[in-house]
Amino acid sequence: MLKVGIDIGGTKIAGGVVDPEGRIVEKLRVETPTDTRALADAVAVMARDLSARHEVAAVGVAAAGFIDRERASVIHAPNIDWHDEPLKAILEERIGMPVTIENDANAAGWAEYRFGAGRGVDDMAMLTLGTGVGGAIVLDGRLFRGGHGIAAELGHTRFLRDGRPCGCGQNGCLEQYASGRALQREANDIADQDREGLGRRLAAVRDAKGVITGPAIARLVLADDAGALEALRRIATSLGEACGGFQAVLDPELFVIGGGVAQLGDILLDPVRLAYETSLPGFGERPVARFAIAQLINDAGIIGVADLAGESA
Ligand code: BGC
Ligand code: NA
Ligand code: ZN
Repeated sequence: MLKVGIDIGGTKIAGGVVDPEGRIVEKLRVETPTDTRALADAVAVMARDLSARHEVAAVGVAAAGFIDRERASVIHAPNIDWHDEPLKAILEERIGMPVTIENDANAAGWAEYRFGAGRGVDDMAMLTLGTGVGGAIVLDGRLFRGGHGIAAELGHTRFLRDGRPCGCGQNGCLEQYASGRALQREANDIADQDREGLGRRLAAVRDAKGVITGPAIARLVLADDAGALEALRRIATSLGEACGGFQAVLDPELFVIGGGVAQLGDILLDPVRLAYETSLPGFGERPVARFAIAQLINDAGIIGVADLAGESA
């Protein structure tokens, strides 16, 4: 039985036809329109396109926001202009098939649990580092949804009092200190503050708009640039410290870290583990979690949401 999974990301909409083993049979990609109407149209066109060429049983759509218990509406989205958006109804009308809406990080976490880094583990948490910081919690082999469907928003736990303003309306959220965007902010600060020293090579890779892109930072990290490594260490430390707290609540066996930044592998995970250990209650006398990089990389959202599509809420 094949299903369609579509992942609405900040820059791209990626969709695929997925088989029961989590393999992608066909994949499509388009840029994400900024207008939410055009966005829904693009998702619908992609779903119709894919289901015209394959015998498809269900459609799942992953979106970066707080999805209600019925998995029908985006209640709130910190980084997209959705406000109580009835996405399921909008898409079903355009596609003519039942659609399941899922939080993007939940979808990615589910895919890693079923087919990726979390295989064989019953209790895990996933954090995705991109525009935002997404979270997924698998407890006893089930996706933990909470009382209103919007549990596992790990990126919107308060990391710092009176901290940076966040798209969720609060301030000091982990998302502002550990996302891909936060990495760019740290790199920018280092470039501004120490132009001749630590920030020299970061300042030199600013593009025409003055932006230091994620890939540019990653290249400098791989070239062992001290400034880029310092920027990475800062977000890794924030992430690790937060995970120490998550451990106290959830006690997972495994943390899976995904998103573009995670492609740096152990260069990211080493400082994450260090900060985790220095903030973990009872460290030295208690079991600790393992940390792993996501295995399905950019396809996790597609695979996870397809796997979840069609199952009852
Ligand atoms: C949103 C989450 C989403 C995450 C990653 C956060 O800002 O609140 O719902 O999963 O970004 O896209
Ligand atoms: Na989530
Ligand atoms: Zn927030």
